[in-house]
Amino acid sequence: MTTPDFVTWDTNMSVGIDVLDDDHRRLIDMFNGLLRTNVATRGKDDLKALLTGLRDYTDVHFSREEGMMREHGYPDLETHLAAHRYFIDEIAKLHDEFESGHAMMLRIDLILLLKEWLIEHIQTTDVRYRPYMAETAV
Ligand SMILES: [Fe+2]
Repeated sequence: MTTPDFVTWDTNMSVGIDVLDDDHRRLIDMFNGLLRTNVATRGKDDLKALLTGLRDYTDVHFSREEGMMREHGYPDLETHLAAHRYFIDEIAKLHDEFESGHAMMLRIDLILLLKEWLIEHIQTTDVRYRPYMAETAV
């Protein structure tokens, strides 16, 4: 039996730039992968690798997104960068908590971070740069 994805990327999450939409899809997939994982039965090393993968891809994505915002002279860059820093800190905290053996909280923390931060961020903060850098007219 396959578990359904916790959240599915939808066109209402599109920021109008394919490469960034692809990044967002991939980050959501990584969260879904972690949430599908049974913390009780999966080896700690496997979970750690998934978490590290999420952290690393977040860095790749944020660098790309921030670079594009700079390139297009996006006016509200500083606020956006602060939001990214918050997310990076939360992922780092999750990583540290997991390292120090608090694996049981991982699922709840991941759900909160996915739904209340990532999805919310894409739909309210990322969409604001759309008119400045979308390839197609909105
Ligand atoms: Fe962003």
